[in-house]
Amino acid sequence: MTNAVKTPEQIAKMRTAGRLAAEVLEMIGEYVVPGVTTEELDRRCHDYIVNVQEAIPACLGYRGFPKSICTSVNEVICHGIPSESKVLKKGDIINIDVTVIKDGWYGDTSKMYFVGKPAAHAQRLVKVTQECLYKAIEIVRPGTTLGDIGHVIQQHAEKNYYSVVKDFCGHGIGDVFHEDPQILHYGKPGTGQVLEEGMTFTIEPMINAGKPGSRVLRDGWTAVTVDRRLSAQWEHTMAVTSDGVEILTARKEESF
Ligand code: MF3
Ligand code: CO
Ligand code: CO
Repeated sequence: MTNAVKTPEQIAKMRTAGRLAAEVLEMIGEYVVPGVTTEELDRRCHDYIVNVQEAIPACLGYRGFPKSICTSVNEVICHGIPSESKVLKKGDIINIDVTVIKDGWYGDTSKMYFVGKPAAHAQRLVKVTQECLYKAIEIVRPGTTLGDIGHVIQQHAEKNYYSVVKDFCGHGIGDVFHEDPQILHYGKPGTGQVLEEGMTFTIEPMINAGKPGSRVLRDGWTAVTVDRRLSAQWEHTMAVTSDGVEILTARKEESF
């Protein structure tokens, strides 16, 4: 299947995986404080996924990725590697991206956390990026096109004088981590694949305060902004329903 359409039974398994991934993000929040290392956040998430949820951290060993979650701080766009040497400090913004496998099916989600009280401009970038995700989710239903999704994200980001990262995208997801289609976070209305009931995919906009360009560090993973200004990202896994969308990775604090 190339268009990511799943059966209700398959979506039920993704609902379970998605809820677990969301619960990891809920669990880790209280530990995101000044002085903690991203290594400690990784260890707590790993142990929770493996021992409490009896699930598998999908990132660990994926294409050689060495840790169980991605921790992307400040100018890091995505795929930051947790490390004992990365100590969070007051004013940082951090994305934690969690993907779990349960019973062979994937749930992939990320959110931004504040360390202490970041500068107003940083808080605003985080808020507008979340709005980009939510505005995209609002239009997901059968008949919407992938270009429509990209367009609403790009419009909202650029209206706020931010830029959309073009080098990374959302993706189909199911019993494979990354499958077709690619979900671009920019685009033209009415173009691209038409959404159908049963499709499952992520939307995960990465929005930069400055220029859209990215560069991968020598560790082979960490993607940073070329201008070293801030970047933010939020991600959900979802399924297209007969008349809208079900967010498979919704957290308690969210109402869809
Ligand atoms: N969770 C990321 C995504 O949203 C993928 C991380 S791959 C890793 O698609 F290897 F960096 F963990
Ligand atoms: Co993803
Ligand atoms: Co992810």
